[in-house]
This record gives sequence, structure tokens and C-alpha cells, in this order.
Amino acid sequence: MASVIVEVNDLHKKYGDFHAVQGISFAIQEGEVFGLLGPNGAGKSTTISMLTGLFPPTSGSIRVGSYDAVKQTDQVKKIIGVVPQDIALYAPLSARANLRFFGEMFGLSGKELNARVDSVLEIVAMHERANDAVSTFSGGMKRRINLAVGLINNPRMLFLDEPTVGVDPQSRNHIFESVERLNRENGMTLLYTTHYMEEAERLCHRVAIIDGGKIIAIDTPRNLIGMLGGGILQIGMAEAVEELRAAVAALPTVQSAAYMTQKTGESQTARVVMKIETRQANAALLEVINFFNDRGVNMLSLETLEPNLESVFLHLTGKSLRS
Ligand SMILES: Nc1ncnc2c1ncn2[C@@H]1O[C@H](COP(=O)(O)OP(=O)(O)O)[C@@H](O)[C@H]1O
Ligand SMILES: [Mg+2]
Repeated sequence: MASVIVEVNDLHKKYGDFHAVQGISFAIQEGEVFGLLGPNGAGKSTTISMLTGLFPPTSGSIRVGSYDAVKQTDQVKKIIGVVPQDIALYAPLSARANLRFFGEMFGLSGKELNARVDSVLEIVAMHERANDAVSTFSGGMKRRINLAVGLINNPRMLFLDEPTVGVDPQSRNHIFESVERLNRENGMTLLYTTHYMEEAERLCHRVAIIDGGKIIAIDTPRNLIGMLGGGILQIGMAEAVEELRAAVAALPTVQSAAYMTQKTGESQTARVVMKIETRQANAALLEVINFFNDRGVNMLSLETLEPNLESVFLHLTGKSLRS
């Protein structure tokens, strides 16, 4: 049976009067890739900082491995790796020199240090550039070295904070593959934060959706998406007529219908969109088109959205992850 490696209970963080993390609780199983998915400002980095002992919570408890992560931060730091959102490298030095520096901080030296440096350079596929100064690297390459730094102490668990933001597609793929391999081949547990739902969907066994400092859902991506049943139709309209919305909502294949305003195009002009959650996407599409035709109501646009974690977020919060 899998054992719990992280257990977080009723965690809070206040910055002055601002309540950034508002009582979150979750557990991560050893060997799991656990995602924290939420928009900018949701509280992801604040949460990671508390779990990795960068600063203490305002209240609540955290266990990592067999340690109390609030009181025993030194022990926790030995068994985890952290890849922070901001890059923390010495640009004039080579990749290898940076890695040696961080390795020495973990008490590594001699052959063991050399072997670890080679191994992590291999994992992030940067061994060919090992002796070049970090200042000559692209943003994506710097991120890969940052990931290598997080791995230097061969951690049991790795925390990655939005590791692909501002990264070119090639480095992004390297990062994905490294993460997948570390989990699959080394059984490493990972906590991965992102505001890209497709990353969470691809990489994570379970995802906690976080917004405004609160976890609003935790489950496998498949179960979270399954919660929505069908798909979503979005119909651009000239105006929001309540009677029409109610009639659409009453159609047998429709679960709910609501008006929202959406900003489109370069001018970001707001338009009215009827958002329809369906029970069966295809049947609903036909029914809704027929309904609009029969009524002689104009559709300015029609969009069908496959349900994904973005739709789950929209469903739970009424807003888009990307905004
Ligand atoms: N040092 C700080 N002082 C005051 N407010 C902060 C500080 N750090 C973060 N915040 C605020 O806390 C909220 C959560 O931030 P953060 O954890 O960085 O979110 P995320 O990583 O999900 O984008 C945001 O509203 C942010 O502006
Ligand atoms: Mg952040």
C-alpha cells in the first residue's frame, strides 16, 4: 500500500492583512505526481514555500516524510528538492560550477559530487553544455539547469513551481520528459504547480484546483472532467434575453445555460455569450441549433468545447484559468 509522504492540514498564510492561503488540506502519496492548478495569485507559490520550509505558515500543520515541516525544516530540506519559480543561478559561472556549488551546500564532495553533477546534467539533457556559462543559455536552458539544481541531492520528493513559464517548446518537452521519467523510473514523488491545464492533465495523477487561496476540488483529471458529463457549447449572441436562456436550459440534453460576457478580438470588445453545459455534447449541439433555427434567433458564433480541466475550472469558479 502506498504511504503518505506529504500531509497538509488547515494551512493558512497571511501577508499582513492579506489572507493568501485560506485553510487548505491535502495529502500526497509516495510515488504520486500531484498538481496544484490555479491562476496567477491563487496561492501556489505561497503553499510551496511553506511546504519546503522557506517561511512558516500563519497556522496549520505540514508533515513531509516523517518530519514536521514547520519545526524540522533542516531535516525536510535534506529529503526534498525545490525548483523555484524564479531562476536562482550564478550567470557568469558554468552549468557545472553552479551544480557543484549547490551540491557542496548539501555536503557532497569528491567523486560523489562529480557523479551527481554528471547524473543531473544527463537527466535534463544539458551535459553537452555543461562547461558553458549560464549567461549564454536560453531561458528554457536556464530552467533545465534550475531543475538539475533541484535534483542534486537525489531527493525523495521534488517541488516544481511553474517550471515551464516562459520556456521554448523544446525545453518544455525536455522538462516534461524529465518529470515523467523521474516519476516512472525513480519512483520520485512530485508536486507540480502550474496555471496551464494541459500540463496538469498530462503530468499529474491527481490535481488540486486552487483559487483565491482555497482548494476547490481534488481528484484525478479524469474524475474532475467526468464530473462535467457532456461538453460545453458557447453561442455568441446579439443580446441576453432571459426567456431564451430559460427555454434553452429546459431542453432535455442541456444541463444549464447562462449568459456571460466575453472579450474578443484585438479591440477586446465585450460580447454576450450563452454558455451551455450539456449532458451529451453531440445530441445537445443538434437540439440547440434546431431550437435557435425554429425561433429565428441569430447565432453570431458557435463554439464547442471538449471538457478539460479548463472547463472544470470555469464550471467551479465561473471564470477562466487564463484570465
Ligand atoms: N510577500 C508577499 N507580500 C504580500 N502579498 C503577497 C506576497 N507574496 C504573495 N502575495 C500575494 O499572495 C497571493 C498569492 O500569491 P502566490 O502564492 O505567489 O500565487 P501563485 O503562485 O498562485 O501565483 C497573491 O495575491 C500575491 O499577490
Ligand atoms: Mg507562483
